[in-house]
Amino acid sequence: MESLIIKGGVPLHGEVTISGSKNAALPILAATLLTDEPCVIRRVPNLSDTRFMVKILQSLGATAQFEDGTLTVHAKKIRGYADYELVRQMRGSICIAGPLLARLRKARISLPGGCIIGARPINLHLKGFEALGAKIKIEGGYVDATAKRLAGAPIFLGGRAGPTVLGTANVMMMATLADGVTVIESAACEPEVMDLANFLNAMGAKISGAGSPTITIVGVEKLHGAEHEVIPDRIEAATFIIAAAATNGEVTLKGAREDHLHAVIDKLKEAGVSVERRGSNLLARRSGKLKPADITTLPYSGFPTDVQAQMMSLFVLTPGISIITERIFESRFMHVSELARLGADIEIEGPSAIVKGGRPLSGAPVMASDLRASAALVIAGMAAKGATQVNRIYHLDRGYENIDGKLRQLGARIQRVEEK
Ligand code: EPU
Repeated sequence: MESLIIKGGVPLHGEVTISGSKNAALPILAATLLTDEPCVIRRVPNLSDTRFMVKILQSLGATAQFEDGTLTVHAKKIRGYADYELVRQMRGSICIAGPLLARLRKARISLPGGCIIGARPINLHLKGFEALGAKIKIEGGYVDATAKRLAGAPIFLGGRAGPTVLGTANVMMMATLADGVTVIESAACEPEVMDLANFLNAMGAKISGAGSPTITIVGVEKLHGAEHEVIPDRIEAATFIIAAAATNGEVTLKGAREDHLHAVIDKLKEAGVSVERRGSNLLARRSGKLKPADITTLPYSGFPTDVQAQMMSLFVLTPGISIITERIFESRFMHVSELARLGADIEIEGPSAIVKGGRPLSGAPVMASDLRASAALVIAGMAAKGATQVNRIYHLDRGYENIDGKLRQLGARIQRVEEK
């Protein structure tokens, strides 16, 4: 296993190019299963999660070539069975279920199970499949879904924490090939859902309203191959903005989409960080002293749960009390005890973390627990005095393309080593 060794105290300076969005790329790759013609997907980030999705597509019978960020997939003939060993390794692989059901009228997929950030049920995915005509059986840890005929229907997809991103993606993909009209109410509005809808429309689907809570899908008989460029990763962009602010540096983000970052930029402004548009780039730096603030994570267009941990690292450096309330995932505070090892003072009260910021941080060995928690530890390590060793960075490699290389290019003293 590998670790990162970070020598803190260096402000980040320079330019960084934002990669394609992981969470847009994963369902888009799954959508290539909807056609027997080749699809070409550009700006696919080279991460362990996308490489893993490619493996899953290949295990289903598709051919796939990944070269310089462009992935060509040809799912000419596929099977509808994905086994536990593959699915358990990546929860996002559940989004192959909708395409398989649409194309083959059957899917047998291992239940993905929970993960460190919460239970992560798939009841809403299954509710959508059933509404479109699938019969679902759960046996031996597998979901067995079959459908004689798929018929469009009105579906309400809201859950206890609001809409579901991959649930919306799954049902939307399935509905593209159903007879008649499907209307998803309480659909997720995330930009990644919109990007998927744009790709599906390029394949010949008839989807309107993506990006709003009501998505209408008029079923078509067949989808064809298409080309698509994945949107830039808003979570990676937010991570670099926060890293620039945490180290008191100045970073230009090339290709970041300001229109996908409103909630993050607004909160950062309150916290003393300026994000200005410079042509097609964004420039991130402190606007003065850091100020405490409160955030609550919410579905899009609210503050993203995927930026909560990184924001906590910034608040740890900010004198005063900041409060973070996590409303999407029930146990997404695993980074708190690791940040405490660097000297942070954080208390958890139910779904909220009370951060008493401004104490000096000093480097220590810490353990990454999930993808965004790892990013938070890297940010805190760069702002701490002395050396921080972040262990188990395979979590980081799941979702950030070449993060240590990009940070080094911005001046960070960061090295990848074999974990001792
Ligand atoms: N939920 C249900 N039932 C369901 C599905 C979800 O109750 O059937 C609940 C979840 O337990 C959670 C909430 O609904 O409380 C939202 O979960 P959602 O389904 O939206 O999450 P997801 O689609 O599984 C995606 C991202 C996550 C991101 C969330 C929320 C991908 C591959 N993953 O997960 O990304 O945190 O949306 O925005 O798109 C990450 O990148 O680090 C990451 C975890």
